[in-house]
Amino acid sequence: MPVKRILLISITLFFVSGIFAQTKTVVSSPNKNIQLGFWLSDKGAPMYELTYKNKAVVLPSSMGFELKKTMNDEALPALKEGLTITSSTQTSNDTKWKPVWGDVKEIRDNYNQLAVSLSQKGDKAITFNIIFKVFDDGLGFRYEFPEQKNLTHFIVKDEATQFRMAGDHKAFWIPGDFDSNEFNPNVSNLGEVNGENPKYAANIYAHQFFDTNSAQTPLMMKSKDGLYINIHEAALVNYPAMNLHINKKDFTLTSVLVPDALGNKAYLQAPAKTPWRTIIVSDKATDILASHTILNLNDPSVIKDPSWIKPTKYVGVWWEMHIGKSTWDYAGSQNATSFDAAGLKPTGKHGANTANVKRYIDFASKNGFDGVLVEGWNVGWEDWFGQFKENVFDFVTPYPDFDVKALQQYAASKKVKLIMHHETSASVTNYERQMDTAYRFMKKFGYDAVKTGYVGHIIPRGEHHDGQWMVNHYVRVAKKTAEYKIMLDAHEPVRPTGLCRTYPNWLACEAARGMEFNAWSEGNRPEHDVILPFTRFMGGPMDYTPGIFQLDLSYWDKNKKETIHTTLAKQLALYVTICSPLQMAADLPESYEKKMDAFQFIKDVAVDWDDSKYLEAEPGDYITVARKAKGKDNWFVGSITDENARTTTVDLSFLDAGKKYTATIYADADDASYDKNPAAYKITKQVVDNKTTLTLKLATSGGCAVSLVPVK
Ligand code: NOJ
Ligand code: CA
Repeated sequence: MPVKRILLISITLFFVSGIFAQTKTVVSSPNKNIQLGFWLSDKGAPMYELTYKNKAVVLPSSMGFELKKTMNDEALPALKEGLTITSSTQTSNDTKWKPVWGDVKEIRDNYNQLAVSLSQKGDKAITFNIIFKVFDDGLGFRYEFPEQKNLTHFIVKDEATQFRMAGDHKAFWIPGDFDSNEFNPNVSNLGEVNGENPKYAANIYAHQFFDTNSAQTPLMMKSKDGLYINIHEAALVNYPAMNLHINKKDFTLTSVLVPDALGNKAYLQAPAKTPWRTIIVSDKATDILASHTILNLNDPSVIKDPSWIKPTKYVGVWWEMHIGKSTWDYAGSQNATSFDAAGLKPTGKHGANTANVKRYIDFASKNGFDGVLVEGWNVGWEDWFGQFKENVFDFVTPYPDFDVKALQQYAASKKVKLIMHHETSASVTNYERQMDTAYRFMKKFGYDAVKTGYVGHIIPRGEHHDGQWMVNHYVRVAKKTAEYKIMLDAHEPVRPTGLCRTYPNWLACEAARGMEFNAWSEGNRPEHDVILPFTRFMGGPMDYTPGIFQLDLSYWDKNKKETIHTTLAKQLALYVTICSPLQMAADLPESYEKKMDAFQFIKDVAVDWDDSKYLEAEPGDYITVARKAKGKDNWFVGSITDENARTTTVDLSFLDAGKKYTATIYADADDASYDKNPAAYKITKQVVDNKTTLTLKLATSGGCAVSLVPVK
């Protein structure tokens, strides 16, 4: 259906500010719950505000930019004041589109739009537009710089977008940072955000605090009057990511863009546009999880024939390195010279050896998995970490004990796909040089998915993981992999902003603390998994790597004190509470072989969905979700809790009327708890229909996973 261009009747309010009368344009969401107000202050500054069911979401907040000339750093007149509105147009849209994969099979894109053009006065005047889209569950707005004679190419010195919160909201936050998102999320009021507190500084990668009073987006908040508010961005392309500085007195959040090596924020050439700033809001937490506004604000898929893109469930030579059973390197970490594998003496602990990979291929094939990831297959791991080295990996030279050809044939004979791993060690210029060669090598040897990684300080030196240069790099990789029909999973990238709609081969990103942290740090907290869907997942799927069955890690190494801070049943439920077209069964085959009855759930669970019902949720406390497998009549339910045990009921009224289903319930045993008895589970079966209510008992940091299959 084409975009409907309806001129809406806008409510125009007059109010007195100082001695000037200003006009406020108000635009409502299609269901009228949300109202956006836009006006110019008496100084000619662009201002907006947002309400939800008449409650304040964003109090009057300012917008705009400071710009510089590209050649001589000379300031251009700031686009913050002295502006006039030269045009204002309202339109609306109500269309539907089908994602290549996702939590539902069809998404409605329904909003009312206000587009304003603003200009300075005089013959040096610069013009820019602000586009607002008001959806039933929130607002997106972006700035556009049209082609014009007074602004050709320019530098964004600062973006002055503010979000003035109506109070000292409860916030679910990670500290502001230019390079990493791998922090334990924290829960405090906005006024207590403190990124310097060592309790919060748990990151191991290139991490740098620039401002302890700042947080990253997606920032989830809850107001005292019961509003759930999420601030993030959509379609982050050719621009740096946004952190939010928090004014602790009036709770104004101000955008702080990630700088480049020179301190500049973005280099733009008109016509240009910024990403969308998004504010998702509701009085129901489940609406935040169900929102598709960020996807709606991204451009449609550029991949005309997506038939080669396949949601993937995989296993891999991976967790065994993280728990110390084997190593990525072949010859020990001894600063050996890269690219001369012939001279390296094996330590005997190398994980990616042909026989071991065949063992994983056998396991994947026997249990119906699509893929096998192999890390540590290529030369360079002897000296990859923390060295700031430029030419560590070449992505085509295997270690001597990894037989590329034999494994290609073996995997093909077992109908399993090998998944490539490209750790760039953040030497990104090196990766850019090698990309075509690396992807050609992949296609030649039957790989059609790659996991990339960016551990360390970015080269070019001084650039940041979340700055404009790297943002462009990640998009370049998405485009180039698409050219080669390769699916992509990026680790340590900038936080996602819904670009998987435009590049659906970009199945997942990491950009948060995944399961790996449980293997070698103080671990993820019991509340981690009930916060992430409200924060990190707002921008898109994550390669979280759930499914750990051997929860006490001293089993692998007597000196290891680490344990996984969840029960086994919660590990199963994560496959449903997490929505991702790429899901790993992260533990070792031998861990699963001991508990094949529980493993059955991971074998059965889908990774792509026709429908999702967000049944109940409270950020930081609990989440219960039901999802219907793509193209099938099977449903899956996942329910998880934080450190508090919980009993909940699930009303199965979403099932087809008149149909009977066999429910297999994977629950915490009565004596289970995450810290004392995490592996205790029980499996029961019962016949249910759409009138049944299930009572689920969740242990501390526990969970429950249910599969529902129609009775034949
Ligand atoms: C960090 C990634 O998140 C992890 O999955 C990977 O195994 C290591 N880097 C090595 O590349
Ligand atoms: Ca990581």
